Amino acid sequence: MKIVHSIEQLRQALRPYDAPAFVPTMGNLHAGHLELVRRAKPLGDVTLASIFVNRLQFAPHEDFDRYPRTLQADAERLAGVGCDLLFAPSEQDLYPEPQGFKVQPPAELADILEGQFRPGFFTGVCTVVMKLFQCVFAQAKGPCHAVFGQKDYQQLLLIRCLVRQFALPIEIVGVATQRTPDGLALSSRNGYLSAAERAEAVQLALALRALARGAQDSADLPAEREHLEARAMQALAARGWQPDYLSVRRRADLQPPQGGEPLVVLGAARLGQTRLIDSFEV
Ligand code: PAF
Repeated sequence: MKIVHSIEQLRQALRPYDAPAFVPTMGNLHAGHLELVRRAKPLGDVTLASIFVNRLQFAPHEDFDRYPRTLQADAERLAGVGCDLLFAPSEQDLYPEPQGFKVQPPAELADILEGQFRPGFFTGVCTVVMKLFQCVFAQAKGPCHAVFGQKDYQQLLLIRCLVRQFALPIEIVGVATQRTPDGLALSSRNGYLSAAERAEAVQLALALRALARGAQDSADLPAEREHLEARAMQALAARGWQPDYLSVRRRADLQPPQGGEPLVVLGAARLGQTRLIDSFEV
């Protein structure tokens, strides 16, 4: 696997290929990321991943500084699943001047749920994803694919929306969340958990699954649904979590259900110092 750092080196490395299949990441890779690469492989004539911890999507009080940087181990893991090319820019490579232009996502999708608790987060995500797409796909001739995990459900919807609204010729592929045998969604942030927190962490998935079961019967009864959401949050809080939201939404636009549409349950909660998110389609 070839590793490149600058945009120029990336474009040069991609020149012989027509149809890149791309997996953007922030590194500290786990089996979930490797599954994205496996899914990307048959989609193009070159499979590439990026590793870039994007300062723009972290608030000043968040974990940008302590986010694990494990480039050597990540590169070995990517090579092990047949990734052809790794783009690992420095901040200077990707943002040689302050990134004044930003991609402002639509408030109705970006300012709810994660966006309510992490203001500006999705602007940072959409801006870097747009920039990475320009770096990777600008000279592509064949079909372009980018692969994202469904764990970041709202992010995936926003990126689909970005591609649609800017008419980017890129197919976005969503891959089901990978889980540990006890049901915890794989996440780089799981590495922050102590042994006791790790044992507790699966409770977020269990609470969301229970909420999903209840939601099936109460989707068109707003009061009943809100009661179930509040009860799920209280149950987690009673175990020592600080829940931000556990919510039943329409899959298509993450608005509260009206009845009859496909649903998803989404949640975010802090366990000690670690904020975890998860989701299940109902
Ligand atoms: O999901 C992530 O790892 C990041 O948000 C992404 C899409 C790589 C943008 O920095």
